[in-house]
Amino acid sequence: MTPPQHGHNRSSRIAGFHRKSPQERRELVAAFAGLDDETTRHLADMGNLPAPLADKMIENVIATMNIPIGVATNMKIDGEDVLVPMATEESSVVAAVCNAARQTYEEGFTTSVSGTLMIAQVQAVDVPDPYAARLRLLERRDEIKSICDACDPLLVRLGGGFRDVEVRILDTLGGTMVITHLIVDTRDAMGANAVNTMAEKIAPHIAGWTGGRVFLRILSNLADRRLARAHAVWKLDAIGGASVRDGIISAYQFAAADPYRAATHNKGIMNGISAVVLATGNDSRAVEAGAHAYAARDGRYTSLTRYEINGNGDLSGSIELPLAVGLIGGATKIHPTAQACLKILGVTTAERLARIIAAVGLAQNFSALKALATVGIQSGHMALHAQNIAIMAGAVGDEVEAVAQVLVEQKTVRIDVAQEVLGRMRG
Ligand code: MEV
Repeated sequence: MTPPQHGHNRSSRIAGFHRKSPQERRELVAAFAGLDDETTRHLADMGNLPAPLADKMIENVIATMNIPIGVATNMKIDGEDVLVPMATEESSVVAAVCNAARQTYEEGFTTSVSGTLMIAQVQAVDVPDPYAARLRLLERRDEIKSICDACDPLLVRLGGGFRDVEVRILDTLGGTMVITHLIVDTRDAMGANAVNTMAEKIAPHIAGWTGGRVFLRILSNLADRRLARAHAVWKLDAIGGASVRDGIISAYQFAAADPYRAATHNKGIMNGISAVVLATGNDSRAVEAGAHAYAARDGRYTSLTRYEINGNGDLSGSIELPLAVGLIGGATKIHPTAQACLKILGVTTAERLARIIAAVGLAQNFSALKALATVGIQSGHMALHAQNIAIMAGAVGDEVEAVAQVLVEQKTVRIDVAQEVLGRMRG
């Protein structure tokens, strides 16, 4: 098929697009966008995610996006060595975790979780007597429990299910709302499906009991009943002395006091966290939303980690954040790469996965702060970035490392310089 000129006669109204095969959709998209054959062939290579599977995961599939998975070494978590697969497009992220973990390898990270409880919210408006309605709902706890548990007998058999009901009276722009929280133990599932089903099932009853109108029935990503925690000690001699320790603490104090800095500080934490969440096929946006909402829980956005000097004068770091991740359901279960990553991690519970992820977040943050408080991140970052630039300039094989090295030595990591260096190398 000859692709039309880009921008000519293009309509995004493609009837039955969703019913077509990935191949047919690719052809349509290629025609729309004027893609050349090489680009279309590139899109057709679905890598290690079989096309029929990809086509079932989301709608209107035409291709897959490959992101490298790197493995973080040196991690010891609760006394057990683990290799942590991390899927990320950003250089230095994996190296940062390896470095932080190496500097505390002897003792490693200690972790815990607050539970595996998820929250579903049901919104009721126009309730005539909100305070009494709240009590009417609380009185029906047993009935609510049996309706919720009946939605997911398997979850109940596995030890999960409804745990509690809470009712909040909320002042809003649209008047008073009665917000019911279902607290559900979702065990090894992330739990979105389980709690959303329960919320939808209970909603008509809530409408009846409150006398109001029910609109939203959906989980909360502020999963603050599912906190994961990790802490570690970095000995002074391992990190380069008291001034490094003090620099890291000062960096933390900066983030704790300033949302502009805290956003970047937490972004670095999420570099590590989201990479493991993605590698295991979990919902990275759910975890990101939960993390940032938790960071603002006291009304001002702040740091997810803390650093202190312990009784021995060493650096004591800790992290606590919601981590709604699961082992069953969703992409985790069907994506073969996610399954392979879970095998590498050797986790058999969602709780253990959350604990490992928390430790990775802390490790990531430690390395970022250490670099920022000392040499800065550009030297380390640029070494890796230089390789990307070398590749972009056309370097292949051994040329990549060689060109990158020259760029770093000259302290000019730019594509035009890389092209020049490559040209000289090739004579
Ligand atoms: C870059 O992706 C992450 C950092 O900016 C994190 C931080 O500043 O703490 C280095």
